[in-house]
Amino acid sequence: MDANSAILSCRDVWKIYGGDPAGFLKKHGGKPSAAAARADGYIVAVGGVSLEVCPGEILVVMGLSGSGKSTLVRCLSRLVEPTSGAVFFEGRDLLQASAKELTELRRHRMGMVFQHFALLPHRTVLQNVAFPLEVQGAERKERETRAGEMLQLVGLAGRENYYPRELSGGQQQRVGIARSLAVKPDLWFLDEPFSALDPLIRREMQDEFLRLQAMLKKTIVFITHDFDEAIRLADRIAIMFEGEIVQIGEPEEIVLHPRTDYVREFVKDVSRDKIVTVGSVMIPNGGGDSDGDDGSGGDAVTVRAEEKLAAAAGKILAGEGAARVTDEGGKAVGTVSREAVLSVLFGGGENTRAQP
Ligand SMILES: Nc1ncnc2c1ncn2[C@@H]1O[C@H](COP(=O)(O)OP(=O)(O)OP(=O)(O)O)[C@@H](O)[C@H]1O
Ligand SMILES: [Mg+2]
Repeated sequence: MDANSAILSCRDVWKIYGGDPAGFLKKHGGKPSAAAARADGYIVAVGGVSLEVCPGEILVVMGLSGSGKSTLVRCLSRLVEPTSGAVFFEGRDLLQASAKELTELRRHRMGMVFQHFALLPHRTVLQNVAFPLEVQGAERKERETRAGEMLQLVGLAGRENYYPRELSGGQQQRVGIARSLAVKPDLWFLDEPFSALDPLIRREMQDEFLRLQAMLKKTIVFITHDFDEAIRLADRIAIMFEGEIVQIGEPEEIVLHPRTDYVREFVKDVSRDKIVTVGSVMIPNGGGDSDGDDGSGGDAVTVRAEEKLAAAAGKILAGEGAARVTDEGGKAVGTVSREAVLSVLFGGGENTRAQP
């Protein structure tokens, strides 16, 4: 992806806490080491992060507690003022925007669901969802109609006149989600929106979220520290460690080629076969040492490149030699060996393809 097609991007963003963060940053040429920060008593919450988010993409930011996820995402909406760096929304530098412009942007273009979401306890569900529209100055009828639609969307029709305390945790979180969607944001920031929920409800909420996204096609930055959640939801995952993004890529890429021990630790319990596609472990035609022959026998099993290994493994392993791989149009694009499949299914799996 190139920076021009991004709806949101940032360049070398730093957020440092301490006595004189700007002075400290300057003293170290804009790139202080972690050791220097420790020695001088500064906390580098975000350390030189650059990234791009494409329209319609779900970018999941993950990392351990304290790795800087919330701070980074708040820098992207300038709820937290970065110590240095640049943030662009639709090509416009947010750090140069006036307070008034920022407020407008946040009110009309951005939706946020916070880690510790807060519903207004003395307002009904409907009034809570309508609240951002009230702030925008919308007429009562208009905002209540829209709030009703949003509640319908998140499956809470009929609960309009309840108070938050009368709802379960999951239902309250849905109200928070409906509220953040009420202004029809183009950019949707969600900071661990499901972390307070028990696992079953959490999975339901993830399904619900994917269903919503299939309809709404928002551009989303979603924070979680749960890798399973990341894999279910993400188009791309950015993994943070001590304020830096140590790896960013598609889930499959991260699972197959974790770049550091920290990332490897996250991916070690993931069932690879549900993520990895046949295409990513095949030997492309012309890529092996064959001279035109695709290496599979004439009656070889055929699988599709975009199939997940979980679905294709049975067929491949039941066959004799390597299986033929075809693209969506049925054209032969490569072969996949039984060894490559076994290697992904039973560990290793990182060396089945040359590193890019
Ligand atoms: N206002 C602040 N003043 C000082 N330090 C802060 C402040 N806000 C955040 N930090 C520090 O910055 C670091 C990153 O915090 P942040 O909240 O971004 O982490 P996180 O990855 O979101 O963690 P969690 O998963 O627990 O929410 C932490 O060390 C935190 O203590
Ligand atoms: Mg956080």
